[in-house]
Amino acid sequence: MKYDRIDKSLYVSNRQKFTSQMAANTLAVFNSNDIYPVSADSTLPFAQHRDILYLSGVDQEESILVLFPNASNPAHREVLFLKETSELIAIWEGEKLTKQTAFDTSGIQTVYWLQQFPTIFKQMMAEASGIYLNTNEHLRANTEVETREDRFIKQVKQDYPAHQVHKSAPIMHKIRSIKNQIELDLMQTACNITEAGVRRLLGFIKPGVWEYEIEAELAHEFLRNRSKGFAYTPIVASGKNACVLHYIENNQQCKDGDVILLDVGAEYANYSSDLTRCIPVNGRFTARQKAVYNAVLHVKNEATKLLVPGTIMAEYHKQVGHLMEEQLVNLGLISLDDIKNQDPAWPAYKKYFMHGTSHFLGLDTHDVGLWHEPIAANMVFTVEPGIYIPAEGLGIRLEDDVVVQASGAPFNLMANIPIEADEIEALMNA
Ligand code: GLY
Ligand code: MN
Ligand code: MN
Repeated sequence: MKYDRIDKSLYVSNRQKFTSQMAANTLAVFNSNDIYPVSADSTLPFAQHRDILYLSGVDQEESILVLFPNASNPAHREVLFLKETSELIAIWEGEKLTKQTAFDTSGIQTVYWLQQFPTIFKQMMAEASGIYLNTNEHLRANTEVETREDRFIKQVKQDYPAHQVHKSAPIMHKIRSIKNQIELDLMQTACNITEAGVRRLLGFIKPGVWEYEIEAELAHEFLRNRSKGFAYTPIVASGKNACVLHYIENNQQCKDGDVILLDVGAEYANYSSDLTRCIPVNGRFTARQKAVYNAVLHVKNEATKLLVPGTIMAEYHKQVGHLMEEQLVNLGLISLDDIKNQDPAWPAYKKYFMHGTSHFLGLDTHDVGLWHEPIAANMVFTVEPGIYIPAEGLGIRLEDDVVVQASGAPFNLMANIPIEADEIEALMNA
């Protein structure tokens, strides 16, 4: 791992949060991700499943966590099954968790090698009346591949048809959405690395620079700060490209007079930061660009103030819609008549601002959370309004990551990343 070892008290506390919500005499199983193949013997870099990571800190493939709080054998109340390692295996396969380092990482005393799983799991299931299975219930999840977890679930349902099945997802979504201070510190580190990337760019961007050169500067800055790299596929979109919401080609030359939309964030210790800034290629916004920019900034600042305990996200998104409506009228992009005659299912403002304003952020960039429940202290959200005007070759989005506080305005993890148009201009022309 590039990151420093995380205090294992985080994982002890996370497991306690999960097990305290389990039904009596049940166990829960969490599988690691597979290493995904490319072709021949190539593979994608390993990315751990966020749930086993959250509950154990184990950032390694072929790992299984079992939680069984009522197990008659105290040693089986929390168990890790890991890929076997030894000094000899390490020569060929590199460093893997030993039983000792697995304990140091997770706080879990009982660590078996993976080949022992079938036998021990059978004993545990004979004693348990139900099992928590970890299905992916993220609202936007849309994958075709069968994960290691999916294969496990199929097998369990076949082998143990008489056991009661429970869902881990609602518990995980709830507990993962409220961050521990250790997690907030890790997320702050991710945001600070992103800040270093942005500051590096302000002296680098000039007319004629290519979008991929900007991406390369960021990658360099992220990696030299112990990040694995981008938390999500970066968007470096100059001019009209900024109006393509998921533009990831990053292969165009940036022209004098254009604005570049950068939706880029570093990961740190598997935690995401998620930032958007818009930068004038030549170091100065035109009056029109600045007017649109300041409209978006105003909506972002006002929206942020609404993220207080008790807010319902659906209601919040409606209120942000009204904030945006007002700005779009001021900019002459929509009229009061457009608003009066609008389809309530697709309000007039959506012509220029067609995406959501906020999402949960954490181990996943579009993190899990219970969208229908009131928001609470220590949840982390992005705030990311935008105005996209293809006819003007201009797209502006501004995005910060904020922590909901028990009282008062949210804490902005990106407060130090330049956002005022004047500050960006001053830094580019320093
Ligand atoms: N970068 C992904 C998002 O802003 O949601
Ligand atoms: Mn983003
Ligand atoms: Mn975002």
